[in-house]
Amino acid sequence: MEHEKILVLDFGGQYNQLIARRVRELNVYCEVHPYTMSLEKIKEYKPKGIIFTGGPNSVYLADSPLIDKAIFDLNIPILGICYGSQLMAHLLGGKVEKAHVSEYGKTEINILGNSKLFDDCHRQTIVWMSHTDYISEAPKDFVITASSANCPVAAMENAAKKLYAVQFHPEVMHSVEGKQMLKNFVTLVCGCVGDWQMANFVKQTIKELKAKIGDGKVLCALSGGVDSSVAAVLLSKAVGKQLTCVFVDHGLLRKNEAQEVEEVFGPQGPYKLNFVKVDASERFYNALKGVTEPERKRKIIGSEFIHVFEDEAKKIGHVDYLVQGTIYPDVIESGLGKSAVIKSHHNVGGLPSVVDFKEIIEPLRLLFKDEVRKVGLELGIPENLVYRQPFPGPGLGIRIIGEVTKEKVRIVQEADAIYREELAKSGVAKNLGQYFAALTNMQSVGVMGDERTYEYAIALRAVNTSDFMTADWARIPFEVMDIISRRIVNEVKGVNRVLYDFTSKPPATIEFE
Ligand code: XMP
Repeated sequence: MEHEKILVLDFGGQYNQLIARRVRELNVYCEVHPYTMSLEKIKEYKPKGIIFTGGPNSVYLADSPLIDKAIFDLNIPILGICYGSQLMAHLLGGKVEKAHVSEYGKTEINILGNSKLFDDCHRQTIVWMSHTDYISEAPKDFVITASSANCPVAAMENAAKKLYAVQFHPEVMHSVEGKQMLKNFVTLVCGCVGDWQMANFVKQTIKELKAKIGDGKVLCALSGGVDSSVAAVLLSKAVGKQLTCVFVDHGLLRKNEAQEVEEVFGPQGPYKLNFVKVDASERFYNALKGVTEPERKRKIIGSEFIHVFEDEAKKIGHVDYLVQGTIYPDVIESGLGKSAVIKSHHNVGGLPSVVDFKEIIEPLRLLFKDEVRKVGLELGIPENLVYRQPFPGPGLGIRIIGEVTKEKVRIVQEADAIYREELAKSGVAKNLGQYFAALTNMQSVGVMGDERTYEYAIALRAVNTSDFMTADWARIPFEVMDIISRRIVNEVKGVNRVLYDFTSKPPATIEFE
């Protein structure tokens, strides 16, 4: 099935994914490709419109990323954003220079004339600027459609050739009418109607998976997280019992989590998956004995996981396909050859080398997280699972500072369960990004009844974040904290103190290790 498509050409901008997400929110399919994509490939791809992203370079310098000018003659609408707008000006005979005053942050622009791009927008509107260069002269067949105090060409266009350029970032939330502007480009200029619907995606993907897999055998590592759960259910709808899901309980899950996963995906659950649960807690605790260094803990948990999975895979015998829950942000990050995001994050990425199989299947590789969630709902996966907050692969292993023991796991599980329960009860949880309890390695003196105690301090963490790269500590009402703190100290044996983490990221990270 051919979708209408928007092509985002990436010039190294930090908001490349955000642009694609905004377009997808309009139900228009969109992919990000490097700016080096050849004209031939672009023509073959048949986009209904192209967006040039921003980027850190200056167009007039020798080695800055450029593009073949012939792209402007393909009769495909183009929107240039920030660097992309300067590139358009530069290549088409305008002038780009270092600005007298660089603009950064929220800026008011004045809309001039009658541009389709600004349909339904106010004549004065706030946008997000972030530039040191600017277009000092528009190319001669362009008209200026917006300006700001320090930026004479905040937007320009050649409507006849469907070429549009904006100096600001409409994709960023701080551009108050940015969504409307992108919508105008995608619908009014490119003529897209919005045929990218998750219900169609589900139908289409199941059909394709059936055709591809035939009667082959498929193996999936199920963590209970959103991505692997959605991938597993999608596969099971396509090939039923040819799929085996292996769920490894490493003993570092949250309270009741293993049961919850089993209830949904196990033999009694609605999906009737071929479900193998491995209780490997003791193996993990043994491997972690005496280990205190965070990265070593991660590595041990990661490699133990692979060993357990390998043992299970051997029992199952040869499989044809291995399922991975890769999603589009991972594809964009690894596909563009830019500075790789280096995570020693434990996920199933290490599995392929140890399992004998023919091919990896990644049914979610074109989806953003919010789309994965929509697919999950389409497939009838319960909401509490679909909207689950991220839980690190090494689990509570990195929420217990220092050595991990069974007893410490119990303490942090119980404290965390109380914390989550009370946040949900008070209605605070729904406004939080990520929240959890961690067990500090600190013991301190307390008094309970008439007794001196010397016990652990639990640290509570809650942050708000849109991308997990930066995060702000959450302002939880003291009354709610009061209830949580009392309950933890009263109900969790081994704890006599509750602390709250008031640090944002940076300088801290979200997790404690
Ligand atoms: P940090 O602590 O780096 O966390 O600010 C950012 C996000 O990543 C998650 N996280 C992990 N996820 N394996 C994972 O799968 C890990 O080792 C890991 N460490 C952190 C964290 O929960 C947060 O959502």
